[in-house]
Amino acid sequence: MLELTNVFINYSNIQVLHGINVTVNEGEIVTIIGSNGAGKSTTLKGIAGLIPKMKPSSIKFMGEEISGLLAEKVVEKGISLSPEGRRIFPDLTVMENLEMGAYLRLKEKAAFGQDLDWVFSLFPILFERKKQLGKTLSGGEQQMLAIARALMARPKLLMLDEPSTGLAPLIVKNIFEIIKQVNTEGTTVLLVEQNAKIALGVADRGYVLKNGDIVMEDTGKNLLTNPDVRKAYLSEGAAKKS
Ligand SMILES: Nc1ncnc2c1ncn2[C@@H]1O[C@H](COP(=O)(O)OP(=O)(O)O)[C@@H](O)[C@H]1O
Ligand SMILES: [Mg+2]
Repeated sequence: MLELTNVFINYSNIQVLHGINVTVNEGEIVTIIGSNGAGKSTTLKGIAGLIPKMKPSSIKFMGEEISGLLAEKVVEKGISLSPEGRRIFPDLTVMENLEMGAYLRLKEKAAFGQDLDWVFSLFPILFERKKQLGKTLSGGEQQMLAIARALMARPKLLMLDEPSTGLAPLIVKNIFEIIKQVNTEGTTVLLVEQNAKIALGVADRGYVLKNGDIVMEDTGKNLLTNPDVRKAYLSEGAAKKS
């Protein structure tokens, strides 16, 4: 479904990705794990069309080259991103945030209503909070809203940037259950996480990104038990080291 071939990304003179290859097959949950600064968010931004003037790279989605497309066009193709740090609109209500997620298709009234029902069934708490301003939600609820907003574009591929950050373990567990459910219902998922344990626990396959290079790839299960991965990313406080 998604194929990154030899993708390079730099910010002015800093080279961040050194030619990475990543594949996501339809129906999978794929994760990219790595320490802070490894280039995980940059990878997702590159796919989403949020890196201006990317070097010639190949990013194919459903067989079509999408590298260099504007962010809006990438959403239209069927890819949406729930960004790092739950970037919701704090001064808009929950409902207005969800409308923003569907802005490309607001005229399709019937589909919009169905999608709202769908995200409210996934996140019942958002239904209860639909008239509240984004900034009045708890951290976990804001993360749910960020994911729900991305789902309002009805993506074929949902990209999630660190949905676990800063949340209590129970809330993280809840959010990951919902991610699995979304996947089971037919949405392919590309997840980046510093929290390797939880990410590899849900992923069919995973990649380890280190200083802008993919240094390992395997099934989620194998990576979870791999001694090198355990030492570098699953020991106490490992995620903080670079
Ligand atoms: N807008 C930017 N301008 C310059 N450097 C950046 C920018 N965004 C990220 N970087 C740098 O790129 C590297 C990778 O960042 P990022 O992709 O955010 O890593 P991760 O998401 O894995 O923590 C880091 O060294 C970071 O400081
Ligand atoms: Mg990041």
